[in-house]
Amino acid sequence: MDLGIAGKVAVVTGSAGGLGFAVAQKLAEEGTIPVLLDLKEKMLQEAVQKIRLHCPQAEGYVVDLTTFDAVSATYEEILKHFSPPEILVNCAGGGPGFQKNITELSEPEWKRLIDINLNSMFNTCKIMTKGMLKSCWGRIINFSSVAALRGGGLLGKAAYASSKAGVIGLTKALAREFGEYNITVNAIAPSLHITPLTSILTPEQREAIVSAFPLKRAGDPAGLGALVCFLASDYAAFITGATITVDGGYAMH
Ligand SMILES: NC(=O)c1ccc[n+]([C@@H]2O[C@H](COP(=O)([O-])OP(=O)(O)OC[C@H]3O[C@@H](n4cnc5c(N)ncnc54)[C@H](O)[C@@H]3O)[C@@H](O)[C@H]2O)c1
Repeated sequence: MDLGIAGKVAVVTGSAGGLGFAVAQKLAEEGTIPVLLDLKEKMLQEAVQKIRLHCPQAEGYVVDLTTFDAVSATYEEILKHFSPPEILVNCAGGGPGFQKNITELSEPEWKRLIDINLNSMFNTCKIMTKGMLKSCWGRIINFSSVAALRGGGLLGKAAYASSKAGVIGLTKALAREFGEYNITVNAIAPSLHITPLTSILTPEQREAIVSAFPLKRAGDPAGLGALVCFLASDYAAFITGATITVDGGYAMH
């Protein structure tokens, strides 16, 4: 199936990480030009080298997405080398203390988690979408979590669940705001996928988590990459404001 997204510039945040990398790889396989953004320089460069096997034009930029001015400067840098991004995938997330109960969490840790998981998306959704608003075509895909739908749990507690619920609110609000510009905005809410973020879980904790899923296993990051490619395509042109769970059935109600 030709998704018709070849040649489009696709910004993927958090793409030195497990899911962001899987997303960037699938987007490259579909012929888009991935622009990888992440905080971790060495891992980002390694990711870019791998993505270039599919797309030699792929590029990476080191940026702290929680800083508005740094995101603006990165956008200007991208425009020196590429046409304005038409696809934005907000995958950066996590953060220290995401598994702490509110009784253990300090105020700076709370604020940092909201910064990483929610405020960074304000920055990218405001800055990286300027070209989409002009050309009246765009796709924004935001990574939330089942933690937003289930009130946290072993996959993230109060601050993480709150920030990821904020992602769903932002997604719906932008779907309304950007709809008349032919820009769709959707969220993905995964449950457990094995990545650097979740590798801190012990085998016992993983087993406890997946035993609550109807499918009794963790997800494959490649599936999330394929879903992002579908949401970026014109086949998904009538899907907006949705939160799609990819969770082995965990959050169904
Ligand atoms: N892996 C899972 O099971 C799972 C489940 C639900 C939701 N999620 C969400 O999916 C997304 C990807 O998760 P992952 O498992 O790939 O995590 P990961 O830790 O492997 O990757 C996250 C990436 O985000 C980057 N990042 C964090 N803060 C940043 C900042 N301020 N500026 C730039 N980059 C920053 C990190 O450097 C890292 O490379 C996250 O938003 C996470 O909350 C993951």
